[in-house]
Amino acid sequence: MAETPTKNATLTIDDQSYDLPMYSPTAGPDVLDIRKLYAQAGVFTYDPGFTSTASCDSTITFIDGDKGELLHRGYPIDQLAEKSHYLEVCYLLLYGELPSAAELEKFENTITRHTMLHEQMQYFFRGFRRDAHPMATMVGVVGAMSAFYHDSTDIKDPKQREIASHRLIAKMPTIAAWAYKYSIGQPFVYPRNDLSYAANFLHMCFSVPAEPYHVNPILSRAMDRIFTLHADHEQNASTSTVRLASSSGANPFACIAAGIACLWGPAHGGANQACLEMLKEIGTPDRIPEFIARAKDKNDPFRLMGFGHRVYKNFDPRATVMKQSADEVLDLLGIENNPILATAKELEKQALEDPYFAEKKLFPNVDFYSGIILEAMGFPTSMFTPIFALSRTVGWVSQWKEQLADPQHKIGRPRQLYLGSTARDYTDIETR
Ligand code: SDX
Repeated sequence: MAETPTKNATLTIDDQSYDLPMYSPTAGPDVLDIRKLYAQAGVFTYDPGFTSTASCDSTITFIDGDKGELLHRGYPIDQLAEKSHYLEVCYLLLYGELPSAAELEKFENTITRHTMLHEQMQYFFRGFRRDAHPMATMVGVVGAMSAFYHDSTDIKDPKQREIASHRLIAKMPTIAAWAYKYSIGQPFVYPRNDLSYAANFLHMCFSVPAEPYHVNPILSRAMDRIFTLHADHEQNASTSTVRLASSSGANPFACIAAGIACLWGPAHGGANQACLEMLKEIGTPDRIPEFIARAKDKNDPFRLMGFGHRVYKNFDPRATVMKQSADEVLDLLGIENNPILATAKELEKQALEDPYFAEKKLFPNVDFYSGIILEAMGFPTSMFTPIFALSRTVGWVSQWKEQLADPQHKIGRPRQLYLGSTARDYTDIETR
């Protein structure tokens, strides 16, 4: 936790001045330490959407929203997407440095050998309706892992934290794939240790026992890149949920289940599904102006899904890489003239030319193109957010580990601006 102030701020309230220490980061804005403000001045700060609040210090991911920059342990996301691969990025996020060849081989072997689920967990899937949203299944099954993996729930034991991290990263593709298989009435496909992480996921989703399945290396590369692009993203809503759940001492599986639940919302990880459904509703480029007008209409709650971001006030660097990947995948699949992609590109063009979006700095985000790729690969829209959750598990786990490693971390307990009734006496029903 930050302890050495680099400067001081003075706050004056009713002629009383209070000195507040400030800390300077290695990158990004300075922070004002208000931890003692209530004790000193008897006031709270007020920041309902946390637009100006740093909830922690971290060394994992840095975002410069104005520059459209995203760094994982200092490495730019576009370099990682081009030159690295997901499990190497997992190692980087978990341990802080790129692995040596020997370290990477050991890590990949560990993850590969934790991909199977306890056989009895299949009953959890079977307890859901076939038409349950796979995110509902994932929340339930991941939470239920606390009922199976008792040897990795003691958060005070670094070894158990390590095993829980590996199990979550390794088993999430199996859980997501089985949620998909269950929803389409096909048998569960077990993971294979001879396949890469992304190829294994595609195999578990799309192979059937009736015939051999060959994973297309270009599609598994595109899948791996999608995992990498979604791996971590500073203190976003679902990561903050994981940190807050963990601050009470909850076990790792319960904390990650909470993160999955938060990610599900259409304003967050559910936007990829909502974006593709919006593009399908728009249908043809001639209807784009109608939807742009709705997005600009203050009286219409409609928003362009896949546009805008709390932090990026420039292009989301992940969207740029995702757009290139969309072109590659659709070209490979011979559907480069995919009408949805054509509509997406025309929508992006018209929105970016519209003063409303330029003034509000609303650019395509990571969710704008990912759905197009996933649909082209054969995933139903209901699987888009589970794939986001699978990818983000390493980010949640890395941030969870970082918080627990800080001996000074405390339970998160915000206060409020109370606008309700002041104290009043109970009245009997006869007198109301
Ligand atoms: C993710 O935090 C993260 O890092 C998240 C994420 C990650 O990797 O974890 O990056 C993943 O969640 C990406 C975002 C996916 N969500 C969407 O695509 C849904 C559509 N976008 C929005 O709902 C919105 O842009 C948010 C939720 C993403 C950000 O909202 P903010 O920062 O709270 O901004 P806001 O709602 O206050 O909007 C500011 C203004 C408003 O207009 P005014 O009230 O100032 O007049 O911009 C407008 C909004 O109405 N606006 C939009 C818009 N997004 C914002 N108008 C039309 N379409 C949109 N998409």
